[in-house]
Amino acid sequence: MMDKSGFDYLFKLLLMGDSGVGKSSLLFRFSDDAFTNNYISTTGIDFKIKTIELDGRRVKLQIWDTAGQERFRTITKSYYRGAMGIMLVYDITSKRTFENVTNWLQEIREHATEGVEKILIGNKCEMENSRQVSQEEAKAIAQENDMLFFETSAKANFNVEEAFQYLARVILNKIHNQGVPQLSPDRNQVNLREAGSKGNSRSCCSR
Ligand code: GTP
Repeated sequence: MMDKSGFDYLFKLLLMGDSGVGKSSLLFRFSDDAFTNNYISTTGIDFKIKTIELDGRRVKLQIWDTAGQERFRTITKSYYRGAMGIMLVYDITSKRTFENVTNWLQEIREHATEGVEKILIGNKCEMENSRQVSQEEAKAIAQENDMLFFETSAKANFNVEEAFQYLARVILNKIHNQGVPQLSPDRNQVNLREAGSKGNSRSCCSR
């Protein structure tokens, strides 16, 4: 049901990952459909709001952009509260940012609400010539950690909208599944699995 403020659901999402991987750029592309080559490191926290439509429902996304740099990380921790989805971003041209994904996952396990939905994002995928992380290794990590995997390019505007939409959809489906009287636990599990189908990862090459 639509409430007075013009949306049916409000989801809080977080962008996480090393400094320079393109978190702010992904948010800027998604919220303002724009991109800049200038790099202004996020020093604290910033959020943007975008309302999207899913199955005829208006879903307001409140997306928090966290600082990737270690020295700002203590500020970051309180922002996990209430987060329903996390986009964990690395840069396909930087192996180091991919290797750090496991550290970010550890931090997420420590601070985020259990059951938070996560997706893995390999950004800057238009830079194929500088690629240091294969899609196979990223898919493997994603599968191990129950995440879907997307390659995106904030610069080339590839898969950005899709990634945000997907995360919102998984959260929405989860809410619906929990809200609807359940036939049996098994049935519910199947629905959740479908919502987050892991065989479904999209990449730069698949479109
Ligand atoms: P912190 O705020 O320090 O955590 O960094 P961040 O992850 O928010 O990175 P940011 O969005 O500021 O981007 C860092 C640099 O990468 C900027 O120079 C961007 O222009 C560039 N960049 C972001 N996305 C892409 C992309 O898809 N392709 C290319 N080639 N460059 C990108």
